[in-house]
Amino acid sequence: MEERRSTVVAAATVVFVVFYLASSVVAGEVGGERPLQVPAMYVFGDSLVDVGNNDFLPPPAPRAPRPPCGVDLPPDGGGGGRFTNGYNLADIIAQHAGFKMSPPAYLSLTPATRGDLRRGLVGANYASSGSGILDITGNGTISLGRQVKLFADTKAAMATAGEVDGERMGHLLSQSLFVTCTGGNDYGAFSDGTVPVSEAPAFIAHMVATYIQHIKALYKQGARRLAIMDMLPLGCLPVSRVAVQNGQCSGVGNSLGQLFNRLLRREMAGAAASSMPDLRYSIGSLYNALHDIIVNPALAGKQLKT
Ligand SMILES: *[C@@H]1O[C@H](CO)[C@@H](O)[C@H](O)[C@H]1NC(C)=O
Repeated sequence: MEERRSTVVAAATVVFVVFYLASSVVAGEVGGERPLQVPAMYVFGDSLVDVGNNDFLPPPAPRAPRPPCGVDLPPDGGGGGRFTNGYNLADIIAQHAGFKMSPPAYLSLTPATRGDLRRGLVGANYASSGSGILDITGNGTISLGRQVKLFADTKAAMATAGEVDGERMGHLLSQSLFVTCTGGNDYGAFSDGTVPVSEAPAFIAHMVATYIQHIKALYKQGARRLAIMDMLPLGCLPVSRVAVQNGQCSGVGNSLGQLFNRLLRREMAGAAASSMPDLRYSIGSLYNALHDIIVNPALAGKQLKT
């Protein structure tokens, strides 16, 4: 079983991740309320962290309907495209790192934000709602593999522009925070019948192996500080609960999520030890943070409507 933590502690863990990862403090402010902890942030994943890439993709890629999405964002809150009422997980992590919000969606770059990116500052968000770890997940969305490729393209563009010399660029990247948050959509393979639940262990092992391949590709491109968000309690999503009597969380859904989380921790520890010696990483328990809020909404100062 996963160890349990209160929401308060889980939230503090995200702060800890960021501060632990940031060994040197970069001077300056980019509009956040805290001193900047890292030169840039690079975000990869799905709708939990997408800040607008899908708004630039044609259907059938899902777009966040506004309203209700975005209704609680400040007027200068970075525009639409988030699948939340307010700031999402990428924004919240960025705020703890000293930024005002997530770095901009990669597909939304302007000449100014592209300039920052080329100089190794601020970073970019490559996440795409509906995407997964596996290429087969999603329809018209940007898979994790493609997101990593877009980061490689970004790095090549940095080198070509030559505004910062190669050594400095390597240093900036090594100090930057890489965030990955994905995997939930791959589980759609069980609900749409592509993969029978009896084959879950092999499918989940394939997911974890593919995830680690992509993380190794980021390491090869210079990532040294990585925050991985684990699998959310899928059995507590409304789509899982409608099928359960009294609307309780689905035990099967949650145990499949925990299977991924245990394997991810084990395989990641092995991969880091054997082939990513300079990587510092932390796996944040989205599972525990969300599960605690669902089980005891008062912990998060919320009332749960059922
Ligand atoms: C992807 O979306 C298109 C257009 O909506 C649809 O025709 C196609 O069947 C979808 N493919 C998959 C694999 O779901």
